[in-house]
Amino acid sequence: MSKELIRLRNICMAFDDELVLNNINLYINDKEFLTLLGPSGCGKTTTLRMIGGFTTPTSGDVLFDGVRINDVPPHQRQINTVFQKYALFPHLNVFENIAFGLRMQRRPDPSDPRKKLKIPEEEIRERVMEMLEIISLKGFENRRPDALSGGQQQRVAIARALVNKPKVLLLDEPLGALDLKLRKDMQIELKRIQQQVGITFIYVTHDQEEALTMSDTIVVMDKGSIQQIGTPEDIYNEPKNAFVADFIGESNIIDGIMVQDKLVQMYGRKFPCLDGGFAPNEPVDVVIRPEDIDIVPVEQGQLTGTVTSVTFKGMQYDIIVDFKGFKWLIQTTDHSPEGARIGIKIDPDGIHVMKKSQYSGMFGDYSSFSDEYDELDDAGLEPDEEESGDEE
Ligand SMILES: Nc1ncnc2c1ncn2[C@@H]1O[C@H](COP(=O)(O)OP(=O)(O)OP(=O)(O)O)[C@@H](O)[C@H]1O
Ligand SMILES: [Mg+2]
Repeated sequence: MSKELIRLRNICMAFDDELVLNNINLYINDKEFLTLLGPSGCGKTTTLRMIGGFTTPTSGDVLFDGVRINDVPPHQRQINTVFQKYALFPHLNVFENIAFGLRMQRRPDPSDPRKKLKIPEEEIRERVMEMLEIISLKGFENRRPDALSGGQQQRVAIARALVNKPKVLLLDEPLGALDLKLRKDMQIELKRIQQQVGITFIYVTHDQEEALTMSDTIVVMDKGSIQQIGTPEDIYNEPKNAFVADFIGESNIIDGIMVQDKLVQMYGRKFPCLDGGFAPNEPVDVVIRPEDIDIVPVEQGQLTGTVTSVTFKGMQYDIIVDFKGFKWLIQTTDHSPEGARIGIKIDPDGIHVMKKSQYSGMFGDYSSFSDEYDELDDAGLEPDEEESGDEE
């Protein structure tokens, strides 16, 4: 299960003078579902194209099974690709679309290696039918692509890539063209297909929820560099820096000082936490997820603030709370009206402390959610400071 299959070693890629991949180091295990996640232009497609053999790195190595393959052309790699625009052949039915690659293939004649043989019709039929079973489209063999839904077409595109039995399937935003409901169904479907056929999937998306749903491993990228590699749980619970914390889920990111192990100071007040390993009084970024904050009566709060907006979300309320001019998002099932003064409590395991980075100060303030309430908040600033100062 955990055998290394592909490795990218010190990969740099420059177009003209612009460095679009900056020292990428990454390994991908056999049968792993790995996702490259990041904003538009961060280098996801370029990385994928390098693995597929469509681009050669400016420097660094691509290894497959320990062998350097920088100069091996795409069709000689045991790798297949599904693109976002998965053009099926419109004049061929589903069966022939999937069979197409097999009909093109020639393999050496065992009795005379100089001769090449077609794949026998019987084997083609068997392998296409097996694929139809896997993608749950048995009985659709004779349909033309234009008589299929978007999701069905996408599954045919995947079957077409899988029928050649590659060791690795590369998928570049394959669900981008589908509407939200279908995307969600296809995410689960893709994960199931990957587990059933037992091959490595390398998946590209800029949708963090999609990445969290499907992946064994997520690689978060920004500006041509890897920001973090980990399981979905790692990436969500232990983001490495403010970029990752902001990109994956909702995060309040507050300036703090790590007084000592397991004690972080924010707003001049000390909060017990679980993190350690920082220098005494090291400036840090503190992540607090909106769902990890408890609303309590003002006199019991570690901090007190003013509710500046409330949005009903069905399962919970999203409320924006002003703490001395910095606005937090809190998700709660308790209703607090706009203008209310509230206290909050955060358990030690709801606090995550990160090193300062180039992204410090750029993310994690929800002010833009409730600009219209700014003036109201300023009026309440002074008493707030006094009240929250007597808690330590
Ligand atoms: N052939 C090329 N020539 C010049 N610049 C390129 C070329 N291909 C990609 N780039 C640049 O490299 C950077 C990374 O592009 P890439 O396509 O890998 O991004 P991406 O993460 O896939 O983005 P998206 O989510 O928008 O698809 C971009 O700044 C892009 O403009
Ligand atoms: Mg791309």
